[in-house]
Amino acid sequence: MELIDGKKIAEEIKAELAQQVLKIRDNGGKNPHLAAILVGNDPASETYVNSKKNDCHEVGFDSSVYRYTETISENELFEVIDFINKDDEIDGLIVQLPLPKHISAEKVIQRINPAKDVDGFHPINIGRMMLGMPCFLSATPFGIITLLDRYKIETKGKNCVIIGRSNIVGTPLSILLSRNSNPGNCTVTLCHSHTKNIPELCKNADIIVTALGKPEFLTADMIRQGAVVIDVGTTRVISSETKSGFKLKGDVKFDEVSKKCSYITPVPKGVGPMTRVSLLMNTLKASKKEIIFN
Ligand code: GUN
Repeated sequence: MELIDGKKIAEEIKAELAQQVLKIRDNGGKNPHLAAILVGNDPASETYVNSKKNDCHEVGFDSSVYRYTETISENELFEVIDFINKDDEIDGLIVQLPLPKHISAEKVIQRINPAKDVDGFHPINIGRMMLGMPCFLSATPFGIITLLDRYKIETKGKNCVIIGRSNIVGTPLSILLSRNSNPGNCTVTLCHSHTKNIPELCKNADIIVTALGKPEFLTADMIRQGAVVIDVGTTRVISSETKSGFKLKGDVKFDEVSKKCSYITPVPKGVGPMTRVSLLMNTLKASKKEIIFN
């Protein structure tokens, strides 16, 4: 069994990004700049936005956080987005989700200029992904594809089972892995809450991606010898073992599954760091205006 070290790969990519920033500066260019809009004071969102800001700092990107109380109206938020859309200093814009109930996340996402949509949530980016056109890929699928690529894990002709059909992980990943590309060319089965025979489907899978948020859902009896297991689950559970008082649990019963598979991502230090670094890769891409949207 080989451990897929997401933390190590993310560190390597960050070093590559930092090099690219130096090159841009040497050529008289400006630092890539990511802006995040944070509404309200959800503690998890605060943590995520802070991490994104720190990640930017680490590779030499500029970052800005626009904070608003949850009393901001939908229209006021649109005005902020319009303002940032027009600001040439800012390359990438994310609106941290979830948003308060009176604001439609769908409308907010559609208000973002697709050329700055480094979360890859805008329907234009999702449509482009569907068609295999240049686009911003959402961070977790991009991170997983990057891991498969860097570990040279063969995907062509493989049976891949993805458990969980969210808009930001399972559904886009099912498209990416079934496309005629590398990584890709898998036969993908996308499982969800109404799928009847998940254990049987998993038993027949060469690659299993769990993205359902149920700690220790995938057990050794559900996988075949030599399967590749990618664990996207990050459920916070209370723990006396850590300083923070909680720890992250994946969807995979790691101790037993790791004995049977060929490759596995741990939680933490697997997919999580790759999700974070993917946002940076997208921000660099946005700053270079590599994708033409007209
Ligand atoms: N909330 C949880 N994950 C994400 C993410 O990837 N992007 C944004 N904008 N909000 C989130």
